Amino acid sequence: MNTFFALVSSPLARWRTLLGAVGLLGLLFIAGCTTPLRSNLQSFPPMASGSPPGASPEALGALKGLGRGINFGNMLESPNEGDWGLIVNREFIDATVAAGFTSVRLPVRWSNHALPLQPFTLDPPFTKRVEIVIDALLAKGLYVVLDMHHYRQLDGDAPDAGDLPVDAGLADERFLTLWQHIAQRFMFKSDHLIFELYNEPHGRLDAARWNDLMARALAVVRQHNPKRAVVVGPVGWNNAKSLETLRLPNDPHLIAAIHHYEPFTFTHQGASWIKPELPKGVTCCNAAQQLEITAPLDLAKAWSVKNNYPVYLGEFGAFNAADLDSRVNFTRLMRLEAESRGFAWSYWELASGFGVYDPVAKAFRQPLLRALMATEPVKTDKP
Ligand code: BGC
Repeated sequence: MNTFFALVSSPLARWRTLLGAVGLLGLLFIAGCTTPLRSNLQSFPPMASGSPPGASPEALGALKGLGRGINFGNMLESPNEGDWGLIVNREFIDATVAAGFTSVRLPVRWSNHALPLQPFTLDPPFTKRVEIVIDALLAKGLYVVLDMHHYRQLDGDAPDAGDLPVDAGLADERFLTLWQHIAQRFMFKSDHLIFELYNEPHGRLDAARWNDLMARALAVVRQHNPKRAVVVGPVGWNNAKSLETLRLPNDPHLIAAIHHYEPFTFTHQGASWIKPELPKGVTCCNAAQQLEITAPLDLAKAWSVKNNYPVYLGEFGAFNAADLDSRVNFTRLMRLEAESRGFAWSYWELASGFGVYDPVAKAFRQPLLRALMATEPVKTDKP
């Protein structure tokens, strides 16, 4: 067994994390009985904003490198790797390269692998595991977007089953300190490694709070990574409409992210995590649905031209409760429309409910893969 597999959360490491967490939760309880805990943000001054200079050649180069990407979803973003049925493995990495993807977006639930109280230390075996995955991807020539995903308390959401309970009052300070640890840990990696500050800010993270927090996080990252490309998206789940609320700091090495799941009644039909569940049987893409796809992309393009920063469509996809032909139509249309506007993109996701790859058959679902990768002119007429 090589280290790649051996380091998938060993039982010993899990116990150590658990015992540490239990002890710290005791402390948290005692502290909570006396004083409410509140984030101390004084030691994290924000980077100035108000006159962002536009993208640097490095940021534009990074966007080009991102090109056509795939999300390694449901792997390191689950409470513990494997909880949602998938772990990163060599088969996935090799398949990604063979299919011609140039980048991988790697969603990571850092918040479940760090102490709940200062100094918010990252769990060493988990951090090593993420590093091994990053190194394996970089070694294949891929660009990697290391994305902080699902820090539920930061958005004001309830923790997921299997999440380490942490004090919501410390969420901002903990977020910034986690970035301090992550940015320092990976500062010597190649410039093909890109940081994404936070996936889909929403809820408690309104525009004012997010703009402030993101400017502080960026200042933290820049202490050790002065020129690394950083992806930052707007509130409202990275909705293109919210780009206008994004107040970028004065930093040239930035890429703006949007996520796009419209028409939502099509892409998320039958998805158990949407309440109430959306009815199945919706096809794609009639003229109205085509407009739902193109209008947000037009908004993002106009924002990009005005602000002179490139756009990364970091997530789009259709859940497998929809019929395959419609998923192919949707995927092909979104991909072509994104490319025609000069956006890099990353399909959501490789091998789970939206998956372009079937992990049981160990093969790509060819019609979906072609919708993403075909270079020959493809028909975009409605079905
Ligand atoms: C979430 C996933 C979800 C997907 C589509 C992502 O940002 O992290 O859990 O499956 O969006 O809804």
